[in-house]
Amino acid sequence: MSISMFETVVTPAALDLASAVIRSGQLSTGPRVVAFEDALARELRLSHPVALNSGTSALHLALVLAGVGPGDEVVLAPQTFVATAQAILMQRAVPVFADIDPLTGNLAVESLTRALTPPTKAIIAVHWAGYPCDLDEIGACAALRGIPVIEDAAHALGASYRGRAIGSVSRFTCFSFQAIKHVTCGDGGALCCVHPDDALEARRRRWFGIDREHALPSELGEREFDIDAVGYKYHMNDLAAAVGLGNLSGFRDRLARRRTIVAAYRTALARVSGVTLLRRADDRQSADWLCTILVERRDAFVRALQSHGVPTSVVHRRIDRFRVCGGVRAELAGQQQFDERQISLPLHSGLSDEQVDQVMTAVRCGW
Ligand SMILES: Cc1ncc(COP(=O)(O)O)c(C=O)c1O
Repeated sequence: MSISMFETVVTPAALDLASAVIRSGQLSTGPRVVAFEDALARELRLSHPVALNSGTSALHLALVLAGVGPGDEVVLAPQTFVATAQAILMQRAVPVFADIDPLTGNLAVESLTRALTPPTKAIIAVHWAGYPCDLDEIGACAALRGIPVIEDAAHALGASYRGRAIGSVSRFTCFSFQAIKHVTCGDGGALCCVHPDDALEARRRRWFGIDREHALPSELGEREFDIDAVGYKYHMNDLAAAVGLGNLSGFRDRLARRRTIVAAYRTALARVSGVTLLRRADDRQSADWLCTILVERRDAFVRALQSHGVPTSVVHRRIDRFRVCGGVRAELAGQQQFDERQISLPLHSGLSDEQVDQVMTAVRCGW
């Protein structure tokens, strides 16, 4: 069977729960969303998860709750998907790009420190490939200025940092349940909030600014409420939640399989000339959504692996290059190095041992 870069996992439990929701006729937001949020909190130790329709909505809502508005600056790294910057632009705020550590793809703390200015209102830390950023150091920079850290954990469901689950560390953490993520709802997201008040506000803002839980229906058939803030149609529906809930079954096993594959790749490739492995520290555990490595002569590498039937991908290249983000920042040397050499190998729990061997052999054959 040919090797694929990614897979979309839909478990039998997801099929059953989703068809039950479709048959019930209750597709809009309801008990399945509550059950999905409860399961995320209980099984994955996420803080007050608020289920939404995408990871991008989670990022945008986090910025709204952080009070980011027109002209404010938000510091982030360019090594991400453009959704991270688009959420900032939606608030008419300015994305300010700091450099990355070329051995992780994550925000470099020294560069972050230099990028902070009086108009900075938030920091977004993207956990590239699922490997956690230096959250204590980033948190300390933010605390000095009294601004929040928003973690973009679209790649990092199941990761941990110094014994704490990603999704329970910073004031805001944003997850994505898009089709090829660890757990998919088809599309979906969650905004996790350390402070319960933020979660309450997120629940209100995800549904047009209406406090749905406390607004009672009147005799005329509409709920009684006032709206005092801008709100959005960002809530998750019960059908998506049923898919997500069902797909949580077996999540730990699938994550363990990903980790086993990455460990095998790292052992096999550690001494291959022209390959540099990304750094790993003992105080954090990656969610291993991607297995990104750095290679010399990347075009030749990609072609050589293709000739062995092995797909590869850069997945996302630096986003500052987009015109909407202002164009490449030449001074970001770490990002430049990473961008020229990074490539990801196939990684998902559906890869067989033979396919993993095929990938490792293809790299070892040289390019
Ligand atoms: C780093 C990162 N942030 C945010 C997102 C956006 O998530 P969603 O597609 O659920 O809106 C993605 C999507 O792949 C991503 O890779």
